[in-house]
Order: sequence, then C-alpha cells, then structure tokens
Amino acid sequence: MISLRNVSFRYSEDDPWVLQDISLEIPQGQLSVIIGPNGSGKSTLAELITGLLEPSSGNILVGGLDTREHPPHMRGRVGLVFQNPEHQFFHTTVAEDVAFGPQNLGLSPEEVEERTERVLREVGLWDLAQENPMKLSWGQKQLVAIAGILAMEPACLILDEPTSMLDPPSKKAVRSLIRRFRDRTGCTVLWITQDMEELVGAQRVIVLNRGRIAFDGGWKELLGLESLLQGMGFQRPTALELVSFLEKRGLVEEAHLLLFRWEELLSW
Ligand SMILES: Nc1ncnc2c1ncn2[C@@H]1O[C@H](COP(=O)(O)OP(=O)(O)O)[C@@H](O)[C@H]1O
Ligand SMILES: [Mg+2]
Repeated sequence: MISLRNVSFRYSEDDPWVLQDISLEIPQGQLSVIIGPNGSGKSTLAELITGLLEPSSGNILVGGLDTREHPPHMRGRVGLVFQNPEHQFFHTTVAEDVAFGPQNLGLSPEEVEERTERVLREVGLWDLAQENPMKLSWGQKQLVAIAGILAMEPACLILDEPTSMLDPPSKKAVRSLIRRFRDRTGCTVLWITQDMEELVGAQRVIVLNRGRIAFDGGWKELLGLESLLQGMGFQRPTALELVSFLEKRGLVEEAHLLLFRWEELLSW
C-alpha cells in the first residue's frame, strides 16, 4: 500500500541529508512501529509519506499513486497525527476541530456529526467537546488530535509519538483504541515512538538511525540486539534485565513466567 523507493530528503540544498536511500514496502493493514532517537528523521519520514513534503530524490507511492502528484492527505487516504498536537488546531472548540477533517472529505453534516461524537466518546473527551482545544492539557490535546484523524477514517494512520505526554493508563488506552480501530477498518498503522515498551507485540519494527534504516524486522529480534540499541542510546526494558537476572540464578521457569506476563501486559 505504501512504497518508498530509494527516498532521500534534505530540507534545502544547504542543509545536510535528513533521510538517505530509504526503501520500504508496507502492506495494507500492517501495524508497524517506527523507533529511533531524536533527530533520526522519524517526523520527516511521516510528513513525506503524508505528502506534506516531497522527496529530494526517489519516489513514494501510496495506493499506487505518487505523493508528488496526489498528496494522499488531500484525499483522506493518509492521516497524520502530528508530534505537536497544536499544529492540528484551527478552531475554537474541540468538536469543530475534530469535525474539520471529515468535513473536508465532503461527508454529509449528519455523518460528520455522528463521527465527531463517536470518536470523542472513544477517546473519553466528549464532555470537553465545547471547550477551546488550546486550553486543554497537553495530554488532552494529543487525544483531540488523535480523534480528529480517526474521524477521517484514513486507509493509513501515522501517529508521531502520540503518547509522549500521556499518563500510563492513557498510553495503554490509546494503544488499544488504535488497535481496535485498525481491526474495525483494516487501516495501515505507522506508530512512531521512542518508548521501547511500545514495540511489544508489534507486527513489524523499523528502526531509523541518522536518516537510515538500521533494522527492519520483529520486535523480539530487535530487543536482542543490544549493541544496536546501545549505539542509539536506548536501554533494554527493565523487565528484560530482570528476566536475565533470574536466568543467571538458575530460576529459568520464573524467568519464563515473568517474560510471559510482561508481554501479556504490554502487547499490542
Ligand atoms: N523544517 C526544518 N528545516 C531544516 N531542518 C529540519 C527541519 N525539521 C527538521 N529538521 C532536521 O531534520 C532532522 C530530523 O528531524 P526529525 O524528522 O524531526 O527527527 P525525529 O522526528 O526523529 O526527531 C533533524 O536534524 C532536524 O534538525
Ligand atoms: Mg519527531
């Protein structure tokens, strides 16, 4: 569904390359997590796939169409939840902001109203529908931004560090919300994060480092690649350290149980 072919990008000819020779095939319906340190190019990649930026070289195809000629966000095929939710707010109430996307898709007023109420209930913010989004807490802003994109029901959903400012219960709730949304609509999900725990149970993990793909595969395999993770400044999750600790002491069964429970608690 999304195809990047030898994509490189820099913001201007005087700037350094931000992304270099990225090639990716992402099938419809896949749930991928993109992880990488600050400045590795994650947000830039998201804006390229959405068609907000054009590659300096190479091509990006979404649903077979080149993003240069047919920006997929214009047709509602790709929805991006920005890292900074304020980039998405233009109106004076939460409800108006959430309704903006579906209105632009040309849906009937009834359909727009129904979707707005449904997604705001799903993220638990229906009570704040008439508030000014700029006056909410940062975490609530993130939820409004997510609701606004879900209301468009895009074929591909890109979320750029969507849970960075949420408390732990809300983090978990947003992940299951996105999971349910994907199961209902069959959309492709690209979940951008710096949180190692959000890899657990992902169908695919793509690691970006200094503008290149440093890893593309399964989450379990990645968690075993200690030198790669350390090189990027990522620490193995504490639970895995505990598992190794138990194993070294011969408590293999306990280690196995702990690992099982950890996966169960965190999994997508
Ligand atoms: N508008 C811009 N103009 C010039 N350079 C930019 C701009 N936005 C981001 N960059 C640079 O591109 C690189 C990648 O940034 P970004 O995609 O935001 O990374 P990440 O999301 O992984 O933190 C950084 O070095 C950043 O300074
Ligand atoms: Mg970013």
